[in-house]
Formats: sequence, C-alpha cells, structure tokens
Amino acid sequence: MQTKEPDHLYREAMPGQPWAERRKALLTLFESIEPRYDRLNRYLSLGIDQAWRRWAVRSVQVEAPGPWLDVASGTGDLAAFAEDRLRAEGRELVRSDLSGFLLGVGGEKLRARDASASPHHGAAAEMDRLPFQSASFGAVIQGFALRHCEDYAGFFRELHRILEPGGQVALLDMRYPRDGFGAGFYRLYFGQILPRVAGWLGADRKAYQFMVDSVVSLPQETALVDALVGAGFERVESRRGLLGAVHLLVGWKPR
Ligand SMILES: C[S@@+](CC[C@H](N)C(=O)[O-])C[C@H]1O[C@@H](n2cnc3c(N)ncnc32)[C@H](O)[C@@H]1O
Repeated sequence: MQTKEPDHLYREAMPGQPWAERRKALLTLFESIEPRYDRLNRYLSLGIDQAWRRWAVRSVQVEAPGPWLDVASGTGDLAAFAEDRLRAEGRELVRSDLSGFLLGVGGEKLRARDASASPHHGAAAEMDRLPFQSASFGAVIQGFALRHCEDYAGFFRELHRILEPGGQVALLDMRYPRDGFGAGFYRLYFGQILPRVAGWLGADRKAYQFMVDSVVSLPQETALVDALVGAGFERVESRRGLLGAVHLLVGWKPR
C-alpha cells in the first residue's frame, strides 16, 4: 500500500510555488491517494474526523433558502453529513472540487449510501474561482481543504458573491496549536506518533508529512477572520475544537 508519489510533488503542492505547478501537484496527489484516503483518515484520527464534519454541518443556521455548496468536496465525506441534513430539509447539495475525477468518486459514494438522494451535480473548479451564479446558495461548507487555497482573499470574495443575503459559510480545517497544553500534545502527535502510525498502516510517511506541513502553512486565524470581514461577512468567528486541533470559521453575508 506504499505510495510512489515522487518527492517533488510534495514540494510543488505547497504554498509559494507557481500556481500552475502547485495545481498540477495537488491534483496528482489527491487523485493518487484517493483509494486509501477515507480509510487512513478514519484510522489516523480514530474516527474523530467524522465528528468534526458533523460539527461543521450542525453549525449552519439556516437563514437563507437556497441549496448548499460543498467546496473541495473530494470523496464526499463532509457532503454525506450535509446530505443527511438537507434531505430532511428538502434542499439540494451542490459539490465542487479541483478534481472532476474525485467529484465522480464522491458522487458514486453518495449514491451508494442513498439511491434516492437528489442528483449530485458538481463542478470541477478552483476554490477561489467558483463557476456559480451570484446569490445562488444558502450556505457554503468546506472540510479540510482551506490550507490548499491559493488566494484566500479571492476565495472569500467568491463565497460572498455566490451566497444569498443571510447565507452562511462554515469552513473546517485542522490547526497546529502553537501555544497552551495542545501545543505540546500536538507536537508529539504530529511529529512522532502520526508518522509512525501512518508507516505501520502502510501509508507513505511523506504524504503525512505533507499533511502536517500544509496545516502549519495555514495563515493565522486572526488573518483569516480579518479576510472574511474584509470580504463583507459579519458575525465572523473562529471556533476551536479538540485542544485547538481544528478550527471552524463561520460568518454570514448580511441580509
Ligand atoms: C483533504 S481533501 C478533503 C475532502 C473533503 N472535503 C473531506 O471532508 O474529506 C481535500 C480536497 O481539496 C481539493 N482541493 C485541493 N486544492 C484545491 C483548490 N485549490 N481548489 C479546489 N479544490 C481543491 C482536493 O482535490 C481534495 O479533494
């Protein structure tokens, strides 16, 4: 189960590389880890990643009537929780991802869970250039992908543009706590435990080092909050979970 992705892809997928190369590297990496992505996530997080996704979906307070959009939906793990909620509310879920291939895999997975679910249409797109009409979504959600954004200010402007007045964003991603009790714990977990466990499970250590490096590369929460406010959102806050290991950025487009 060892991966064979060459080292240069992990370098090229990090912020600071020319976007054309970074985009290609991100696509290659995410498409090649797809067969083992869901299982490894479950093992390595002891299933807690699913609780975080549920938390993100529950955080949405519906104040606008439109469908929801799951950005960087990948294999559809966050989308599955949203689907469960939206079916009951009679709303539709739209998905987008850099990779059309992953959108297809996610769509199959969602249909296998529930054949009667609404058709899962999606659009292959970069998160900071979304091919959707203005004011067309009631909420936009995202799980574990913010760190791969190329242009944060551009992404937040796009979110504001495509949301209906009263619409909400809920953006979930991991954090590398830099202070407090969580900092020591996570240094040990990310630096020593996770790479070993990933190795025992047959994952490529480089893939998990890339995950850690990309989490560390996320801008400070205050910068993300300021950028959301700058894009026009109100009631913006960053909520922390599990000793600071995840953040959920929420904000509303004014009515
Ligand atoms: C770690 S997966 C997360 C998938 C899913 N949201 C979840 O909760 O498991 C990251 C996803 O982000 C996508 N992605 C990475 N960079 C992107 C970008 N700049 N724009 C859009 N999608 C991107 C990848 O193709 C991949 O499917």
